[in-house]
Amino acid sequence: MNKQEMIYEGKAKKVYATDDANYVIVEYKDDATAFNGLKKGKIAGKGVINNRITNQLMQMLENEGIPTHYVKELSERETLVKKVSIIPLEVVVRNISAGSFAKKYGVEEGIVFDAPTIEFSYKNDELGDPLLNDFHAMALHLATREEIALIQRTAFQINERLKSYFNRIGIDLVDFKLEFGYTPDGDFVLADEISPDTCRLWDHQTHEKMDKDRFRRDLGGTEEAYIEVMNRMGRKEKA
Ligand code: TMP
Ligand code: ASP
Repeated sequence: MNKQEMIYEGKAKKVYATDDANYVIVEYKDDATAFNGLKKGKIAGKGVINNRITNQLMQMLENEGIPTHYVKELSERETLVKKVSIIPLEVVVRNISAGSFAKKYGVEEGIVFDAPTIEFSYKNDELGDPLLNDFHAMALHLATREEIALIQRTAFQINERLKSYFNRIGIDLVDFKLEFGYTPDGDFVLADEISPDTCRLWDHQTHEKMDKDRFRRDLGGTEEAYIEVMNRMGRKEKA
């Protein structure tokens, strides 16, 4: 499938048309942003790492019966995916308190929840991705009641599979963000990426952060942490 014109450039990825209207090519960049683009930088090699990590996790989820947009890795930074019209909701699942949850509710990070939580933000950079509940999402016609139920069910299933996958490589899955949408055929699929940019990953033993919080909080060693996640995943694939 031939790469054609760029149709979209986001903060971490570019999207290109192909000669088939049902497929697009995503290209992962090394650019990193935080706080809705206020903090900007580059994490060397991030695009290559996130492409590989995302594709490995998408394939694992497909094998476990979760439909995704993934088709084929084309190169170090490029992947062929189904063209998806994205439901404009950022879906965040949390297993352990951290980040905006800890800040908003005035609790420490690291509290393991009795059961996972789920929340939605309206995917809208101009508004700063405001948090909203099911009723707000329905009022704004972002999703129907049935779609919200499907998103919640699927996100929790994904959480169980990701949690046990990371558990096996000594990583605690603290929280993560997902995006869903529809293919041109009308199939509901998981889209976007699943990477250390979009997950909080803590080493099980040391609780060391292995994700984008190293960049957000200027902790140093961001590249090394991403590489460590990728290496542990690689070892698991071979095992
Ligand atoms: P939060 O604690 O800042 O709300 O983030 C929750 C999770 O969602 C965390 O794993 C990082 C991820 N996330 C994104 O992928 N994109 C975003 O724009 C934000 C704010 C969070
Ligand atoms: N991705 C968001 C941004 O660019 C926020 C984040 O990941 O912290 O600003």
